[in-house]
Amino acid sequence: MTTIYDEIREDHDKHRDLLNLLAETTGDSEERRDLWAAFYYDVKAHAAAEEETFYAKIMAKPDGQDDARHSVAEHKEMDDIMEELNTMGFDNPGWLTRFKTLKHDYEHHMEEEEEDIFSTAREVLSDDGDGSYAERFLDRKAKERELVDEKAEASLEE
Ligand SMILES: [Fe+2]
Ligand SMILES: [Fe+2]
Repeated sequence: MTTIYDEIREDHDKHRDLLNLLAETTGDSEERRDLWAAFYYDVKAHAAAEEETFYAKIMAKPDGQDDARHSVAEHKEMDDIMEELNTMGFDNPGWLTRFKTLKHDYEHHMEEEEEDIFSTAREVLSDDGDGSYAERFLDRKAKERELVDEKAEASLEE
């Protein structure tokens, strides 16, 4: 039985690999386009599913509020950089510099989730021994994956 903690960590490892590969890309190359698309869709769906199935529950507990608010605020900051990178043009000379800021911030965020948030969640929520949170997370992530483009367009129109 996998738990929500296993699922989130597995996603993070995939995102760490993609960040490292992307840092080695140059210009408007097929490699950069493909890796960025893989990263963008998976991270957006991951963060939305975390907020809806994980942080919403932690937020509802008095001892979890600060941690949950902090993480959700970081999601918003990273989302802003991701949208910036998405519209900037892959051949823009500033792309990689901006990407490296995202890489640094996101690596820190993942580490914090794994080292601090997980222990808070295990205390205030559950250790997910029956995998029910994992199930909800995966289900939500699949739905969010389909909504990524719609949500990005809606936020541009705001
Ligand atoms: Fe997160
Ligand atoms: Fe995460």
